[in-house]
Amino acid sequence: MEKNIIVLVSGGGTNLQALIDAQKSGIIKGGKITCVISSNPDAYALERAKKNNIPSRVIPRKDYENNLEYSKAILKALDEEKADLIVLAGFMIILDECVTKAYAYKIINVHPALIPSFCGEGFYGLKVHEKALEYGVKVSGATVHFVNEKADAGAIILQKAVEVKRDDTPEVLQKRIMEQAEWNILPMAVSLFCQDKIDIIDDKAFVRN
Ligand code: GAR
Repeated sequence: MEKNIIVLVSGGGTNLQALIDAQKSGIIKGGKITCVISSNPDAYALERAKKNNIPSRVIPRKDYENNLEYSKAILKALDEEKADLIVLAGFMIILDECVTKAYAYKIINVHPALIPSFCGEGFYGLKVHEKALEYGVKVSGATVHFVNEKADAGAIILQKAVEVKRDDTPEVLQKRIMEQAEWNILPMAVSLFCQDKIDIIDDKAFVRN
């Protein structure tokens, strides 16, 4: 049976677009994007869903008093949508364990650095690239990993390295990492998951050939 893929977004949604394109070109096997959920009513990602006839829901973070209440609302929506796989694609909220425990090894996130570098609380979006440039690393990249109770600490599924250049700004580096890494490894990991090709052994993820 085809898996229901629910994509959670907060912003521009270029990773959502990469998933939509991958779905259209047949790269994603065994699953279909059945709903997009946004924490931000103004996210451009919602337009991308609409243009591609994908149902969407808006669950605004500002409507909830705290992270737990917000996470409960997300959990309810995921249950209603019969989620088999949840993809955090530029979703800027750390979900409470009521969600991560209910959907253990069923939530994946794309992070714009090579974990365990430049990750954890406070490292999101452009900030990640600012920190990488500040440190002076010569290689950065992207990581797709399962989501657990700790920020950016779940089992790593795929990683891809990208060169950092001397004159990079955070924006330029972000774009290169998206183009060369995120937009490739996220759809790839989704397809692997939907085909049951990811094994978990001792809390580590291994891709089966
Ligand atoms: C992407 O670079 C994604 O990896 C990052 O935010 C950007 C969202 O772009 N996510 C995080 O930093 C999460 N910790 P998008 O909305 O265009 O996909």
